[in-house]
Amino acid sequence: MMHRVHGIFNMYEIISKKRDGNELSTDEISYFINHYVTDDIPDYQAAALLMAIYIRGLSPRELNDFTEIMLQSGDTISLSSIQNKKIDKHSTGGVGDKISFIVSPIVAACGVNVPMLSGRSLGHTGGTLDKLESIPGFNVFLNPLQFESILSIIGMVIAGQTENIVPADRKLYALRDTTATVNSIPLISASIMSKKLAIDTDGIVLDVKTGSGAFMQKIEDSIALCETMVAIGEKAGRTTIGLITDMDEPLGRAVGNSLEMIESIEALHGKGPSDVMEVTYALGAAMLIAAGVETDYKKCMNRMQKAIKSGEPLRIFRRFISAQGGDERVCDDYTLFPWSQYRAHLLATHDGYISSINAFQIGMIAIDIGAGRKKKEDKIDHSAGFVFHKKVGDPVKKDEQLVTLFTNKEESIDNALIKLEEAVHISNEKPQSRPLIHYIIDKNGKRNSPF
Ligand code: URA
Repeated sequence: MMHRVHGIFNMYEIISKKRDGNELSTDEISYFINHYVTDDIPDYQAAALLMAIYIRGLSPRELNDFTEIMLQSGDTISLSSIQNKKIDKHSTGGVGDKISFIVSPIVAACGVNVPMLSGRSLGHTGGTLDKLESIPGFNVFLNPLQFESILSIIGMVIAGQTENIVPADRKLYALRDTTATVNSIPLISASIMSKKLAIDTDGIVLDVKTGSGAFMQKIEDSIALCETMVAIGEKAGRTTIGLITDMDEPLGRAVGNSLEMIESIEALHGKGPSDVMEVTYALGAAMLIAAGVETDYKKCMNRMQKAIKSGEPLRIFRRFISAQGGDERVCDDYTLFPWSQYRAHLLATHDGYISSINAFQIGMIAIDIGAGRKKKEDKIDHSAGFVFHKKVGDPVKKDEQLVTLFTNKEESIDNALIKLEEAVHISNEKPQSRPLIHYIIDKNGKRNSPF
């Protein structure tokens, strides 16, 4: 229900109150969000308030109000006809992050339903919807009834956000994007959590990335973001578990839309790269625990590994592709995906070890070769991307292939290879390995990974 505003408000006073570090009332926050959505507050005043929030922050009470009022600005998706537990998983985004396609059918095979509303690639990070659209025929535009029906029949569904879900976020995000106010922990938390709370789930699992390819590169910021979002979720009555996972090098071996779908299908065939599977099992375990079907991380792991061996997650994934209009034969025949016309290889310049692969730089080169977009309107080439033959810590010999690049833009190849060489570092010493799962954060606080 929409919060009713009591009293007469003036944006000038609201802005100056926050500028001076004071707490806004629920009515003031409601006035701002609801009147901004209806175009009754101009962008310049909204931008000034966002900057004041960026600098002064929001108290936990203000943040809960901000999130709740954003959520009430639009429709919510009811899944009340579905008896099974429903758990959503959200990643803050990265390079090579294809975990949703692997973890969702595994968790569904363990009896927990997975409804997801996902986004598209922007900047250096990839987008779940773009990856799905590399499957011929796949449809990400579902109405709420289709969404609920596919979830109840298949056990998983992934669709795009409709215009009517949290319209306040759509408008505020566009303004933040042009006024240097995106990178604020309370504003990011309210933006993400209002959209997560708009789906009727029993719990939410958050994958907050950290490292060169993450939204938050410093671990302290990733922890603060995760703690803030977990507190919002729990306050709203949803079991919320956050994992801080590493995004310093791309996840897995494939980066790019169809290449990542192929890697995901391989993982469902039981042939996933070890880093991808480690993150998948950690997030899947958190989902099973959030659903209340297991209490112990190790038991979850056994259950998920057994599920993969049984073939059931792959069968669910095929049905999911088909239910959303896609050609499920891609699971057996990768030639049905689009393939690039050109390939090129990055070779090792000398012997040594791969010491780092800068995920942010890889994401940016992916845009140059057609796999991503700089602006929302840009078209994506689903076939473009990279396959990494070596990962951080692997020994390499001079002239060995490190990366294969796939593109339809022949003119982008030379420059991409130069930039790839700058992004992939070789050292004489074997580098120290970084943990993949840094922390788990839930209502009881932060602890080390149990894996
Ligand atoms: N993703 C979101 O949905 N919102 C933000 O503010 C940042 C990342």
